[in-house]
Amino acid sequence: MSKIVFPKDFIWGSATAAYQIEGAYNEDGKGESIWDRFSHTPGNVFEGHTGDVACDHYHRYEEDIQLMKELGIKSYRYSISWPRIFPDGKGKLNEKGLDFYKRLTNLLLESGITPAITLYHWDLPQKLQDIGGWTNRDVTDYFTEFSETIIRSLGDVVPMWFTINEPFIAAFLGHLFGIHAPGIKDMRTTLQVGHNLLLSHGKVLKLYRELNQKGQMGISLNLSYKYPASDDPADIAATNLSFGTVGRWFLDPLYKGQYPEDVLRYYENMKVSFSYPEEDMKLISQPMDFLAFNYYSSEFVKHDDEMGFTHIDPEPGKFEETEMNWLVYPQGLYDLIMYLDREYGKPNIIISENGAAYKDEINSNGRIEDVKRTKYLIDHLSHAHRAIQDGANLKGYYLWSLMDNFEWSFGYSKRFGIIYVDHETQKRIIKDSGYWYKETIANNGFDI
Ligand code: FCB
Repeated sequence: MSKIVFPKDFIWGSATAAYQIEGAYNEDGKGESIWDRFSHTPGNVFEGHTGDVACDHYHRYEEDIQLMKELGIKSYRYSISWPRIFPDGKGKLNEKGLDFYKRLTNLLLESGITPAITLYHWDLPQKLQDIGGWTNRDVTDYFTEFSETIIRSLGDVVPMWFTINEPFIAAFLGHLFGIHAPGIKDMRTTLQVGHNLLLSHGKVLKLYRELNQKGQMGISLNLSYKYPASDDPADIAATNLSFGTVGRWFLDPLYKGQYPEDVLRYYENMKVSFSYPEEDMKLISQPMDFLAFNYYSSEFVKHDDEMGFTHIDPEPGKFEETEMNWLVYPQGLYDLIMYLDREYGKPNIIISENGAAYKDEINSNGRIEDVKRTKYLIDHLSHAHRAIQDGANLKGYYLWSLMDNFEWSFGYSKRFGIIYVDHETQKRIIKDSGYWYKETIANNGFDI
């Protein structure tokens, strides 16, 4: 047995997002979001589930903070519902909505939990979608105004800020594959949206600096490591392209002020083009305080004549899969961190999400013995720790998720929590993985 000990000030966190947990979708003056509209439209979400009630966190946040306290969580990453603050996306402020986040934040502080805010986790006000959503450049200004309200209200007490959660997913799943809100399927729109999300990040980061804030701000990307499915040079090139479209497409603008040439050419060949003023890149590439990413899995890549690349499971059955059918590949977390460290100038890194969905059952003693989830966490944290030992500036880890919640188009059918939620009664039960996390936090590490 060996002991894994993390650096003294390592951030042990847990994460959620507003639409996935809050419920109260039309209370206290909240406006409609694109996820309200999308989930209310039949056929979009598993069995017609919606976030109308979700975990009812809007009414139960005190109990949820108490649970976090019991687990010893050091920092909590949560997102702000924009239409709760500005029901129309802009213009008239809804004080009651803002008040909820003030109460939540204050109680976190009183409980010794460091608040960490995500400004955009996908619930765009529907009123702004009606004027083109993220394809409309004006929306980047409305987002900046919304962010200014939040920063002016909570900036003094919140030390950690994530501008945009997973711009790739918001752009591609929402505007190319159509499986996330707003359910559009168009490649040109997708690239425009991706760009405007990066631009919004840049505008808010500039504002944060101008407001002389003392905390830290970064963006949260979805990243995985890509491995060639064979040593065939075509597969190796395909791997580079595959990471290019998801990873470098966002990382290069943020760190180098330009989109990667090879991926631009790839889109040009597909006859997709989009344009933007060159000065956008100045905003997008301002230095961040940290780079955050969400890591769940990695992929093996094969050349594909039509699309250039495709993902395959090279040895079916060799690796475990979670309930999402994502390969469990903890080595990828190490490889990814070291890659970012090498290629992007040793940034401070935050893992802003990591975790796994499994089928959880309550046993006859009322316990949830989610052994697989605990193993998943141990394996991933072990690789994260190895990256720290090898010199990477990994500062913190936010476990996804604090509690079972509305998993977007999968509704409530996937459970990611370390706290079980009975979606009928709203009863919460800490899973065994939650108790394991509690001990890990208390010991600042674990035995393997
Ligand atoms: C990420 C999202 C998060 C959650 C996890 C499982 O892509 O940021 O809200 O759905 O996946």
